[in-house]
Amino acid sequence: MPVKTIIEPFRIKSVEPIKWTTREQRENLLKAAHYNLFLLQADDVLIDLLTDSGTGAMSTYQWAAIMEGDESYAGSRSFDRFRNSIQNIVGYKHVIPTHQGRAAERILFGVTCKKGDIVPNNTHFDTTRANVEFVGAEAVDLVIAEGRQPSLNHPFKGNMDVAALEALIQRVGRERIPLVMLTVTNNSGGGQPVSMENVRQVSATCKSYGIPLYFDACRFAENSWFIKLREKGYADKTPKEIAQEMFRYGDGCTMSAKKDGMANIGGFLCTSDDLLAQQEKDLLILTEGYPTYGGLAGRDLEAIAVGIQEALEEDYLRYRIASTAYLGEHIAEAGVPIVQPPGGHAIYIDARSFLPHISSDQFPGVALAAELYLEGGIRSVEIGTLMFAGAAQMDLVRLAIPRRVYTQSHIDYVVEVILEVFKNRKGIRGMSLIYQAPFLRHFTAHLSPVI
Ligand SMILES: Cc1ncc(COP(=O)(O)O)c(C=O)c1O
Repeated sequence: MPVKTIIEPFRIKSVEPIKWTTREQRENLLKAAHYNLFLLQADDVLIDLLTDSGTGAMSTYQWAAIMEGDESYAGSRSFDRFRNSIQNIVGYKHVIPTHQGRAAERILFGVTCKKGDIVPNNTHFDTTRANVEFVGAEAVDLVIAEGRQPSLNHPFKGNMDVAALEALIQRVGRERIPLVMLTVTNNSGGGQPVSMENVRQVSATCKSYGIPLYFDACRFAENSWFIKLREKGYADKTPKEIAQEMFRYGDGCTMSAKKDGMANIGGFLCTSDDLLAQQEKDLLILTEGYPTYGGLAGRDLEAIAVGIQEALEEDYLRYRIASTAYLGEHIAEAGVPIVQPPGGHAIYIDARSFLPHISSDQFPGVALAAELYLEGGIRSVEIGTLMFAGAAQMDLVRLAIPRRVYTQSHIDYVVEVILEVFKNRKGIRGMSLIYQAPFLRHFTAHLSPVI
């Protein structure tokens, strides 16, 4: 009989202790952090599922490559390895390194967008939306209707509504849309994948109007794995072949290498347009650094060059997607409402259904995230009304799984804590907002439980 258990496809060579706190300590820590988990000290967190961004464990091959980092200011060998490795997957002519994804976004929108423009996306991530809005353009989310219904099962809930895209272009005119973006996987919409068929249709629509298509490619490898598993005609293709095909339908991408780059820092921006690349590199020099390092050390470039290839390994992706689903399935079985089906990098609890007695203006996601910390020292993040204000389509609590960091017993503990909170959910109170910054308010907001 073949063995069915999917194990972590690695051995642990270096360990990092995590610290227990008492419930009483956590009550005080939470109050001091104004009920905003971003404001906690990481040392006071037992299991940190705040984000999968930059929190992964690097491989021995990445650490070895780091020692080869060429720290030359210009023309570094490490940049050549970085560019070649990325080009091998994305195929675009220019690879512009940035310190992380949002820097790539700022440069892209800074060069291509102006006040009054519109940028359609399946769902903009918070930094993407903020960077679009920062240049005076409007960020429009066009995910398919199924993508807005948390409990509905659909294999590609990250797909863009192609008819809505077409209607938008017709309504506002092609001149106001400098580019269209597809976020793979769709982080703010539950980590849900986009199908190749949808990529092809969006690409064809964009081409018919002469609008460039960009990928927000943070989790391109996880998206490729979902296509392999769920889309007809892709079962025998490698994740790399699938990724290469996807990128061929587009004109460029932004990337946070802190996700499927398997690195702790870094990002990049790609295009095949020489003129655009020149403008982007000029801006890069002004704010990030010379085009052969772009705000990164040579050793970071090396870690990404190796990591982005490791993210496409089948054993890794099989474990990655199965272990995320393990968490989702175990809490869903007990009745916890989650975005279905489980996403690639995270499980999203539907806080509106979990806490139906708390209205959106009292931030059910923030209330639930605070409770998970109080109960078991677990840090998660609200993706909802605090993060997106009026643009929030759902109130979710995201449990993001860092890559290659936690084992199954850590996840079993998380399941137990969530089920305990679920049992006592009627006693959880909503939150009121005490302080907010002018943009990206969720990072620094102060809240307090409603009396
Ligand atoms: C879909 C998506 N786009 C962009 C970003 C921004 O990347 P970074 O945090 O590296 O700036 C993130 C980060 O979480 C993301 O998930």
